[in-house]
Amino acid sequence: MAVRSSILGTGSYLPEKRITNADLEKMVDTSDEWIMTRTGIRERRMAAPGQNTSDLAVEASRKALASAGIDAKDLDMIIVATLTPDALLPATACMVQHKLGARMVASFDVVAACSGFVYSLSIADHYIRSGSARYILVIGADVLSRVVDYTDRGTCVLFGDGAGAVVMGPGNGRAEVLYAKLHADGSGAQKLYIPAGGSAIPASRETVDARLHFIKLSGREIFKFAVTATAEAIREAMEDLNLSPGDIGAVIPHQANVRIVDSVAERLPIAREKYFLNLDRYGNTSAASIPIAIDEAAGRDFLKPGMHVILAAFGGGLTWGSAVLRW
Ligand code: UT7
Repeated sequence: MAVRSSILGTGSYLPEKRITNADLEKMVDTSDEWIMTRTGIRERRMAAPGQNTSDLAVEASRKALASAGIDAKDLDMIIVATLTPDALLPATACMVQHKLGARMVASFDVVAACSGFVYSLSIADHYIRSGSARYILVIGADVLSRVVDYTDRGTCVLFGDGAGAVVMGPGNGRAEVLYAKLHADGSGAQKLYIPAGGSAIPASRETVDARLHFIKLSGREIFKFAVTATAEAIREAMEDLNLSPGDIGAVIPHQANVRIVDSVAERLPIAREKYFLNLDRYGNTSAASIPIAIDEAAGRDFLKPGMHVILAAFGGGLTWGSAVLRW
C-alpha cells in the first residue's frame, strides 16, 4: 500500500484565440485601465466554436500523460473538475475517457467551481494512498466563455477558457501530496452562480430571454470571501503541518484577481514573490487555473525539488481549500 501519492506529470492547454482588454472595450463600457488596475488581467483565451471542455481536457491530459511517461491504458480513474461540462449528461470525464482510449475505468466530474481541482486532487490522493487505484488522471477544465454574459461588464472581463491536468500515482519522493483540506459554505450559494438550466429552473424561452444561463457574481462580496478563505486555508495548512513561513517555497493561488493575491499576501508572513501568478495572460479559468499554474510553474523552475508548495483555492459553492505538496 502506498504511503503517499505523487504528481507524476503535468500538462496544460490554452485555446489560441486571445481576447484582449481592447477587444472588451468594443463590447461593453469598460477600459484597459479599469481592468488592469482592478484585476491585473491583460488578456484571456477563448475556445473556438465546436471546441468543448472535453477537447481542452484531452489536450492537457495528453501532455500530462507524456510528461509522466504513463499510457492512457494504465489509468485507473479519470476525474474532471469543471463547471462547464460538455453537457449535463453524461459526465465530461466519460467523454475524456473515450477520446483518450483509456480502459473502462471510473470516470466522473467534480463540481466545486474554482476549487474543483483541489477537491479532485484530494479524492485522487485518498484512492492512491488506500491502494484502491494506482494511476489517476486529474483534470481541471473550463470553457467559461460559453456561460459568460458578454453584455455584463462586471463579469465578462474576468473569465477565460483553459485546461490543466496532472497524472497522480504512488509516491516516489517527488511532488508528493502531504496534505489537503476542503471546505464549503452553501449559505453563500447565490453569490456566484448560474441560476437556470438545472432542475430548479429548467431552460425555457423565458430563462433565455432573462439571461439566466450566465454567471451571476456579487463581485465585492466574493472578493472579501476570497481573501479571507484563501488566507485562512493557507494558515490552516501551515499550522496543521507545523510549517513556518521560511519552509514555504511557493504558493499557487487560484488565479482570479491580482488584488486578491496582494491582499492575501498582506495578511500572511509568506514573501510576496513566492506567489505564482499567470492571471494577466489567462484571466480566471476556474477549475483549470491551479493545474495550468502548476504546469507553468514547474516548467519555469519556479518549483524546485524538495520545496513545500501550497495550493490555495476558492470558488462558487461557496467552496475553498488547500493542499500542500513537497515538490
Ligand atoms: O473564482 C471566483 C470568481 N470571482 C471572483 O474572483 C471575483 C471577485 N471580485 C472581484 O474580483 C472584484 O470585485 C471585481 C473585479 C469583480 C470588481 O472590482 P471592485 O473593485 O470590487 O469593483 P466594484 O464591483 O466595487 O465596482 C466599482 C465600480 C462600479 O461603478 P460605481 O457603482 O462605483 O459607479 C462598477 O459599476 O466599477 C464599475 N465596474 C466597471 N467599470 C468599468 C464594474 N465592472 C467594470 C468594468 N469596467 N469591467
